[in-house]
Amino acid sequence: MELKNKNILITGASSGIGRELALRFAKEKCRLILIARRVELLEALKEQIENYGSELLIIKCDVTKKDEVKKTVSLILEKFKRIDGAILNSGIGMKQSFANFDSSIGEQTFAVNFFGIVYFLNELLPILKKQRSGFIAGVSSLADARSFPVSGFYCSSKAAVTALLESLKAEYKPFNVKIISVHPGFIKTPMTDKNDFPMPYLMDVDKAVEIIFNGLKKGKEIIRFPWQMALLTGFLKRMPDSWFQKIASKSVKK
Ligand SMILES: NC(=O)c1ccc[n+]([C@@H]2O[C@H](COP(=O)([O-])OP(=O)(O)OC[C@H]3O[C@@H](n4cnc5c(N)ncnc54)[C@H](OP(=O)(O)O)[C@@H]3O)[C@@H](O)[C@H]2O)c1
Repeated sequence: MELKNKNILITGASSGIGRELALRFAKEKCRLILIARRVELLEALKEQIENYGSELLIIKCDVTKKDEVKKTVSLILEKFKRIDGAILNSGIGMKQSFANFDSSIGEQTFAVNFFGIVYFLNELLPILKKQRSGFIAGVSSLADARSFPVSGFYCSSKAAVTALLESLKAEYKPFNVKIISVHPGFIKTPMTDKNDFPMPYLMDVDKAVEIIFNGLKKGKEIIRFPWQMALLTGFLKRMPDSWFQKIASKSVKK
């Protein structure tokens, strides 16, 4: 897939993976639409991005607000007329406490991780379908494979994202609209910096973004990395439920 000189929208571009993706696409002289709530962090990228010769539109938007997402997409169309690619990357990982079920954590997690993608799909799919071109990449996680103790809301929000994107792939192929799912393992970003548990095969964010970028360029529909974690979670997914529950119980006892 050609990624030079395209109009690319990135949500959650103020930090971590989204921020690094913005800088990577800037090198391709893309017109970038960067979206997040902390616009001051997006503004801080302006000079660096423009130095690469890339044009930039910064939009403050809370992806959990359907009306804000709608306004954001109309603003983009008004300015750039078309959208070639969207990377729906905004996400949160909230801490759950052991044996203390709290639905509000689930509501907040699904509002960003799942509905933050759904609201953009609602606006973007008709546009890309009409254009008969473009791609939408949703950032899921390798954590969609199995639901781990104390991470149930995060894992289930990502499993929901993966399932939704999977259902859209074949539906939109006839319109030349590509639906892609991105499944990172542990990547070093502000999200993981606050974790106090071991994170196997933790990868630097610039390396992660290079893998995402190359995956998009090669036209991959599913991008999973690092390969060691992809292998491990693939194995966990196929593992009999009783085995998985034994592992889960051991982690709870620890
Ligand atoms: N890091 C990992 O190990 C890892 C692994 C698997 C999947 N992922 C996924 O990768 C994506 C990026 O994560 P990251 O590690 O780069 O985390 P991060 O550094 O914490 O960045 C999260 C981004 O999401 C944005 N965001 C959060 N809530 C938002 C809201 N309501 N509206 C708009 N934007 C919102 C934040 O922007 P504002 O706060 O400025 O709005 C920020 O730019 C997430 O979907 C995450 O689940 C990460």
